[in-house]
Amino acid sequence: MAKGLDVGTMNILSAQQDGSDTVFVQQRNSFVEIEYSDMAEQMLSRSEVLHIRKDDKVYVVGDDALNFANIFNKNTRRPMKHGILSSQEKSAIPMMKLIIEQVVGEPSYPDEKLYFSVPADPIDSELSTLYHQKTIESFLDNMGYDAEPINEGMAVIYSELADNNFTGLGISFGAGMTNVCLAYYAVPVMKFSVARGGDWVDEQAAQATGTPVDKVTSVKESDFELDFTTDVGGVEGALSIYYENLLDYVIQNVVKEVDEEDIEEGLDVPVVVTGGTSSPNGFEALFRDHLEDANIPFSISGVHHASEPLYSVARGGLVAARSDEDVDEPEEEAEAAAADE
Ligand SMILES: Nc1ncnc2c1ncn2[C@@H]1O[C@H](COP(=O)(O)OP(=O)(O)OP(=O)(O)O)[C@@H](O)[C@H]1O
Ligand SMILES: [Mg+2]
Repeated sequence: MAKGLDVGTMNILSAQQDGSDTVFVQQRNSFVEIEYSDMAEQMLSRSEVLHIRKDDKVYVVGDDALNFANIFNKNTRRPMKHGILSSQEKSAIPMMKLIIEQVVGEPSYPDEKLYFSVPADPIDSELSTLYHQKTIESFLDNMGYDAEPINEGMAVIYSELADNNFTGLGISFGAGMTNVCLAYYAVPVMKFSVARGGDWVDEQAAQATGTPVDKVTSVKESDFELDFTTDVGGVEGALSIYYENLLDYVIQNVVKEVDEEDIEEGLDVPVVVTGGTSSPNGFEALFRDHLEDANIPFSISGVHHASEPLYSVARGGLVAARSDEDVDEPEEEAEAAAADE
């Protein structure tokens, strides 16, 4: 066994192997605080809703938070912002702990390997990922896992570029961030993040059109396409504009970082784009067009879109955890054999 865990600003997912299948468990990284009442008690006791009660408050956590928020006329809150624990949300830590426990479950045996994703430090903000990483690691270690962090972009390479010797450029377009990693034979040679992703697109489009941000998110997640033919002046038009701006921003930063890292010139590598924000039809083509126009100092053999963009990072964590376990096992067997003698 072994597990992968994607700790994302909007979604938390675990991956584990079951025979030849990979099984994913997912929860929305969100919660709502409601007053404790007989009605709340009844609704919660009859269902499998993930929740905790604290004094006269009940916190409904994960996928059900949005339903409860609508019924009780409250707003959902989010434990993470820009890829890491939110410093503005005082309940962030207990909520994340509950979601993570539900998504990964108990370890199958003591010190089961688990790789969890962490973003690279962003190049466009002062945020540091260290406190976030250490906090998540301590939850998992306390549960009995042997937890290791894995860079989110590197997880994309493990998941999507196994057929290319783990060589290429992986980009995860998430909610709070975009993570980029260039790896050469499974060795990361450049990695960075920018503190912009789907949340940024939603906020900008909401501001530009005077629409509530939740409404913009739901328009974006249902049937929105990047075809630039419809809805000038509407929410979809604004979404397209900020989507294009996000792509250009990411590509400009790739060019800048590659220049600074002095990457070998003869390189010819594939690019994989993934993450929830890469979901709309037209995203891959738009990214390809804009990348062609950019001045990347190495050659790109193709741009691919991951087949299951929400699952790439958790799957990459699982690949890393399994190969780590394979490395450890022969040693342990040898030790056991030596002890027997
Ligand atoms: N069908 C869709 N069309 C457009 N956007 C989508 C779709 N489905 C999800 N998204 C967006 O994808 C983002 C969530 O993606 P993902 O789960 O990869 O992010 P995350 O890992 O939680 O965040 P991060 O990596 O930034 O911490 C959100 O902004 C969400 O609105
Ligand atoms: Mg992510």
